[in-house]
Amino acid sequence: MKLNAIEKALMNNPARAALQRRYEATLLQRLGGRFDGKRVLEIGCGRGVGTEIIFQRFGAHEVHAFDLDPDMIDQARRALSHYPPHRLTLYTGDATAVKEPDASFDAVFDFGIIHHIPNWQDAVSEVARVLRPGGKFYFEEVTSHALGRWFYQTFLEHPQSQYWFNKKQFVVELERHGILVGPNIVERFFGDFIIGVGHRS
Ligand SMILES: C[S@@+](CC[C@H](N)C(=O)[O-])C[C@H]1O[C@@H](n2cnc3c(N)ncnc32)[C@H](O)[C@@H]1O
Repeated sequence: MKLNAIEKALMNNPARAALQRRYEATLLQRLGGRFDGKRVLEIGCGRGVGTEIIFQRFGAHEVHAFDLDPDMIDQARRALSHYPPHRLTLYTGDATAVKEPDASFDAVFDFGIIHHIPNWQDAVSEVARVLRPGGKFYFEEVTSHALGRWFYQTFLEHPQSQYWFNKKQFVVELERHGILVGPNIVERFFGDFIIGVGHRS
């Protein structure tokens, strides 16, 4: 699902970018480390803040990044125009039907997108498909605990409650597809958010 106008404003602002750079990236790096010179996919890249983090903080050589919303991709293209085409590929796409070959990435990043997808299990399956064995899945996700809150229910648009997941359900689904998380996951803000790294077996 695309974001509504309120969530777009919440996502596309300097406070969100600062949180992503200073807090989420630091925690993800602590849990999963860097991958200098590697090839990385970002699903639901929004306006490209995460893509820049993947290059700068994690040392990726090449990044492919896509989003369902063409307007987000336009913004990302403008923000990331300093990267040459052999290092960055941006396109409009759907995380439940990723247009990339099997086992073609060393890492996949999800900065808060899978909870926007009703058939989110299909997105997990696609992440597992495109990761090479030993590749890593870096995720930051919003749980059912957050999505049931008054603020989310009143101002934001998300799939209906039967499509929400908690930490356990998310980890079980990852592991069903061969992405092993183990202790590499933390809950934040009373369980509203989960941040972790899984390894493709
Ligand atoms: C909460 S925003 C996060 C954006 C960005 N990753 C960030 O952290 O700033 C969720 C993003 O996922 C995108 N999205 C939603 N469903 C999607 C899907 N099925 N495939 C790809 N992107 C999707 C939305 O358009 C939106 O840009």
